[in-house]
Amino acid sequence: MADMRVNLCGVELKNPVIAASGTFGYGMEYNEFYPVSRLGGISCKGTTLQERMGNPSPRIADTPAGILNSVGLQNPGVDAFLSTYLPWLRQQDTVVIANLAGHSVEEYCQMAERLDASDVDIVELNISCPNVKEGGVNFGTSCDMVSTVTSEVKKRCRKPLMVKLTPNVTSIGDIAAAAEAAGADCISLINTLTGMRIDIRTRRPILRNNTGGLSGPAVFPVAVRMVREVFKRVKVPVIGMGGISTWEDAAEMMIAGASAIQVGAANFRDPFAMVKIIEGLENFANEQKLSSITELTGTLMEWA
Ligand code: FUM
Repeated sequence: MADMRVNLCGVELKNPVIAASGTFGYGMEYNEFYPVSRLGGISCKGTTLQERMGNPSPRIADTPAGILNSVGLQNPGVDAFLSTYLPWLRQQDTVVIANLAGHSVEEYCQMAERLDASDVDIVELNISCPNVKEGGVNFGTSCDMVSTVTSEVKKRCRKPLMVKLTPNVTSIGDIAAAAEAAGADCISLINTLTGMRIDIRTRRPILRNNTGGLSGPAVFPVAVRMVREVFKRVKVPVIGMGGISTWEDAAEMMIAGASAIQVGAANFRDPFAMVKIIEGLENFANEQKLSSITELTGTLMEWA
C-alpha cells in the first residue's frame, strides 16, 4: 500500500488533500457528512483582525463551469477564531491552517503575533482576496508588497508560513520568487480569477460588488500552468489549487509540481468530494506501484 503521508515544512499531513479556505468554514458542517479527520488538513475561512459581515448580496453568481463569489471575507475575527473554532478543530486530528487576510501590513502583523502564541499548525497568508476594497489582492500583485508583508509576518510568527498567491498577475513566477526570498516556507496557488457577470435586462452586474472571484473547473488548466511555473521557479513546496474536482485532477496537479492540493468549489457540489479524491489518489498510487504519494510530485515530462 502506498504511503499517503506528505510533509509540508516540517508538518506531517496524513494525505495531501486539504480543504481550501472559504469553502469549508471551520469543518463543523462537513463533519456531519464524514469525520473531517479523514482530511490531510483544513484551511479555515480567511480571518481578519476584526469581525466582518462581508459584502452585500447578491454575492454568488453561477457560471457554466464554476462559481463567481464576492463574499468579502465574512468571518468572526481572529479572537473568535482562536477562542471558539480552534479548540474544536484541534480535537479533529487533522492539520489546522489559519488563513490570514489583512487590510494593512500592521493588521497582518497583529494577527501573526496572536497566531504565533496559538496551536495552529500552519499560517496561510492570504494576499489574494479580490473582493475587498483595501488590502487583499493588492498585497499580492507587486513583488515589493509581497516581500514586505511576507517578511514582516515572518518576523512575528514562528509557524510555517504558506503564502497564497493570486493568479491576477503578469508573472506568477516572479511573485512566488519574491515570497520565497522573503521567507515563505511554502506557496499555495491559485486564488480566484477576477470576473464579472451581467444581467442583460437590468444591465447591472449580477454581483452587488460588481466583480467577484471565479473558481471551479473553468480555472483548472490555468491553475495547472501556474503551479508548474512556480514549481520550476522555487525550492519550497507548492500547494496546488484551483478547480480540482476529481482524483484525476489532483493527480494532474501533483504531477505538475504540487506537494499537496487544496479543494474548494467542488465541496459545494459534492460534500464528499474530498473523501472521493483521497480514495481515488490512494488507488491510483497503488495501481502505479508507488511506495509513496510524494513520488508523483513534479514528475511531468514536458515536451522539448
Ligand atoms: O470574498 C472572499 O471572502 C474571498 C476570499 C478569498 O478569495 O480569499
